[in-house]
Amino acid sequence: MDRKVTVVGAGNVGATLAQRLAEKDLCDVVLVDIVEGVPQGKSLDLLEAAPVEKHDAKIIGTNDYEATRDSNIVIITAGVPRKPGMSRDDLISTNAGIMKKVTGQVVKYSPDSILIIVSNPLDAMCHVAYEASGFPKNRVMGMAGILDSARFRAFIAMELNVSVENTHAFVLGGHGDTMVPLPRFSTVSGIPITELIPQDRIDAIVDRTRNGGAEIVKLLTTSAYYAPASAACEMAEAILKDKKKILPCAAYLEGEYGFNDLFIGVPVKLGASGIEDVIEITLTDEEKAALANSANAVQGLKDLLKTMDY
Ligand code: NAI
Ligand code: 2OP
Repeated sequence: MDRKVTVVGAGNVGATLAQRLAEKDLCDVVLVDIVEGVPQGKSLDLLEAAPVEKHDAKIIGTNDYEATRDSNIVIITAGVPRKPGMSRDDLISTNAGIMKKVTGQVVKYSPDSILIIVSNPLDAMCHVAYEASGFPKNRVMGMAGILDSARFRAFIAMELNVSVENTHAFVLGGHGDTMVPLPRFSTVSGIPITELIPQDRIDAIVDRTRNGGAEIVKLLTTSAYYAPASAACEMAEAILKDKKKILPCAAYLEGEYGFNDLFIGVPVKLGASGIEDVIEITLTDEEKAALANSANAVQGLKDLLKTMDY
C-alpha cells in the first residue's frame, strides 16, 4: 500500500489500533515498542489473521525506527496507563520523558508526518510532542474528544434504546475530570437530547461520560483500549482519506475560544493536511465557564511541565 501509519507503543491501545487500521485496509502499519519481541509477536499474529480477515495491509513489528521511515501518520500510545486510584494527571512525569524521546525519533525518520497523540495526560502530552517535534500546529493533535463523545453516544443509545448510528454528541475541553459534554449539541437523528431525555437523566449520563475512563479502570485495573483504538483509527482514516470530517480533537489554539498557546479539545476539520480548521461554536455563559475551567486544568499541567526536567 502507498500509505503507512506508525503506531508507537505496542500495548493495549497500540496493538488494538494496529488491528483496526489493518483490518479496515487503510494502510500498512509499523508497530514500535521498546520491549523486544512484543511488537514483532503482535504484528506476526495480526498478519496471520489477514487471510481470514481478508486484508492485504503489511504489518511490521520492530524496536527500530528505521522501519517507520516516511510514515504519513504517527500515532503515539507509548507510556504507562493509569491503575485504580490514579488520575490521568498522575502519569505526567513518566510519560513526558517517553513522549519527548519518542517524538525525537519519529521526527528524524518521518519529518513530514502528522502526529496523533494518545498517551496521557493527553493535552499536556500534546504540548510535549508539539515542542519536541517543531511541527506546525495542523500536524500535531490529540485523541480524546472522539472517545469521550463515543461514550456519551453509547449511553444516549442505551437510555433511549435507539441505534448508536442515530446518535451524535460533542465533548469538548481537556481529557480529564473537567471535560465538557455538551447536551445542547448532542442529538438523536438531529433531535437535541434535551427534547428527548429528562434533565436528571441527562445529568446522570453526563456524569457517567466524565467518569467513563475511571469506570473501565475500576473494572479492568488498567485503562480502556477498544474504544480508544476505534477513536484514534477514525482520526487516521479521516486524514488518510482526506474526508474533511468534523470531529472533536485536542488542537493547538491561538485565540480560538479565547485561549492561546494551549491544546484543548474543540471541534476541528480533519483532512489530508491534518487539522484544516478549528470550528468555533457559540457557547452559553455556563458552557463557556465550564470550558474555561477545563482549560485552566490543562494550563496547570502545562505549567507543571515547565518545572519538570524530563
Ligand atoms: P500499555 O501499558 O498497554 O502500553 C504502553 C506501551 O508503551 C507498552 O507496550 C510499553 O512497552 C510502551 N512503551 C513505553 N515506553 C516506550 C518508549 N519509550 N518507546 C516505545 N514504546 C514504549 O498502555 P495502554 O493501555 O496501551 O495505554 C497507553 C497510553 O495511552 C497510556 O498513557 C494511557 O493512559 C493512554 N490512553 C489515552 C487515551 C485517550 O483517550 N487519549 C485512552 C486510553 C489510553
Ligand atoms: C480513558 O479515558 C484512560 O484516558 C483513558 O479511558
